[in-house]
Amino acid sequence: MARALIVVFVGLAVLLGVVIARDRPSADQQAVVYRQALMTVIDGTFDPLLQMQAGRRPYDAALVREHASRLPLLSGMIAEAFARNTSATRAVNTAALAFVWSNHPAFLQSVQRLQGDARQLQSAAASGDQARVVSAIRVMALECDQCHRRFRGD
Ligand code: HEC
Repeated sequence: MARALIVVFVGLAVLLGVVIARDRPSADQQAVVYRQALMTVIDGTFDPLLQMQAGRRPYDAALVREHASRLPLLSGMIAEAFARNTSATRAVNTAALAFVWSNHPAFLQSVQRLQGDARQLQSAAASGDQARVVSAIRVMALECDQCHRRFRGD
């Protein structure tokens, strides 16, 4: 009787362990969630500027300055967010191509260019020269597109 109970308890403990292990996101999944969240924040910061550049939103110099001041820091976080190579697992929902890690130096160069663009945009915003700001936004948007074309599927 006691032995049967022990077997039952051990069985339950194992089952619980399995349930917990399945519920906890894997390190790969966490890495994907983190980098997609960073990209979402970068997008949320950059998109209003893109809208102004396209004339779809009135130009607001104060908002440009505030958002532009965040972009060098945010773009500087991309390299770390993509440090973990998740290309070996199929169990994650990602648009990142394996090329991100198989050609990592090129990926990092793109990150650096984006950071440089973000700094240019920040100093343009500080100068108050709207034409300079608009062209800096365009330059930065090109780098977003270029990296996505090379390193992101879909
Ligand atoms: C160095 C390369 C690189 C640059 C530069 C870059 N991205 Fe990305 N971005 C990626 C990759 C790779 C993914 C796919 C991530 C994934 O699904 O795991 C991505 C995903 C995204 C996503 C989708 C996020 C999600 O929830 O799935 C958005 C939005 C985005 N990027 C916006 C931007 C914007 C805006 C810029 C420019 C200001 C930018 N990105 C610059 C590489 C880059």
